[in-house]
Amino acid sequence: MDVIETNEMKKKYSVLCVDDSISQLERYKADLSPFYELIFAKNYNEALSSLTTLKPDVVLLDINLPGMDGFQVLSLLYEQIQIFNTSVLMVSSNSDSFSIEKAFIHGASDYIKKPYNRIELLLRIGSHIRSKEIKSENIQNKLEIEKIKKKSRETINYTKDSMVFTLSELAKIRDNETGEHLNRIKSYTKYLIEKLALTSKYEKYFSNDDIDDIFCMSILHDIGKIGISDNILKKPGKLTFDEFEVMKTHSVIGGEILENAYKHYTNFNFLKVGKDIALYHHEKWNGTGYPLGLKGEEIPVAARIVAIVDVFDALVSKRIYKVAYSKADTFTIIKEERGRHFDPYIFDVFFEYKDKFIEIGKRVSYE
Ligand SMILES: [Fe+2]
Repeated sequence: MDVIETNEMKKKYSVLCVDDSISQLERYKADLSPFYELIFAKNYNEALSSLTTLKPDVVLLDINLPGMDGFQVLSLLYEQIQIFNTSVLMVSSNSDSFSIEKAFIHGASDYIKKPYNRIELLLRIGSHIRSKEIKSENIQNKLEIEKIKKKSRETINYTKDSMVFTLSELAKIRDNETGEHLNRIKSYTKYLIEKLALTSKYEKYFSNDDIDDIFCMSILHDIGKIGISDNILKKPGKLTFDEFEVMKTHSVIGGEILENAYKHYTNFNFLKVGKDIALYHHEKWNGTGYPLGLKGEEIPVAARIVAIVDVFDALVSKRIYKVAYSKADTFTIIKEERGRHFDPYIFDVFFEYKDKFIEIGKRVSYE
């Protein structure tokens, strides 16, 4: 291996010349050294060493090497060539179409026939270097765009978290149900949607942002209760029919709060997700829920998920109007609602991991 330093300024690009013929290497030196930093290799081992350590921009590879021919060398170097985005120009006195085709099949970027024309060789090397530069620029641009997108996502998430935190604090003050209930709903929803995203039906349905928006906004499912009067919201014992009718309006109130916010900030999809959850989390799969009596998949999926975990938590928790149900009773009651109250597909995923939901509930603690 021999690196030729020129008498001029250090050259920006380098070319690895692989040939067992000293006279050919001398010719490369004469033709290319005024323009490129040159690296010489006479066989595969020297070529591999130069490629991995010096990362040349272009490789000129002779086909007729002793022992291992140029095609075999190219096959063995293929991985490094891809990693370093290096163009390999096969150089050979063979001008048959079979050799040319074989060179491209093995991963060569170009084929130069010997004896080559010096200007043509320079132009072709220049062209491959330009292609490499464009490719690198594109990769760089993509990385920059990704960086900007990541920053923007972080800002949106920060805004979302602060807004959700503020609203949930407000909800906690007005509602008898404590922060633990809201935290449990969030934890159940996160677990359920992650398991759902592994199923055949939903594996390509949710983006990471969707998952994050749904479990984050689930905590605000009952935000509309801030609009329900204390004598109903905090009443110990069962509500009358009329009182319950008033209580039911919490879904519409919550939906309106978040829908109005979304109308002003349409870039924030989490507000729309929040509206769907708040407005529709009491809809039922069979169409007997409220406020609109939506049926089946008319009900947004986020609301169908929260509906299950909300009822589950209500059953296993102690409330001012009821005692906590046992684990066995909870699952007996909730299973009866499969296909009635709950989306059967989502419910089956929930039920498959039912013990995990008990465990999550205990971790966040029941009231
Ligand atoms: Fe509710």
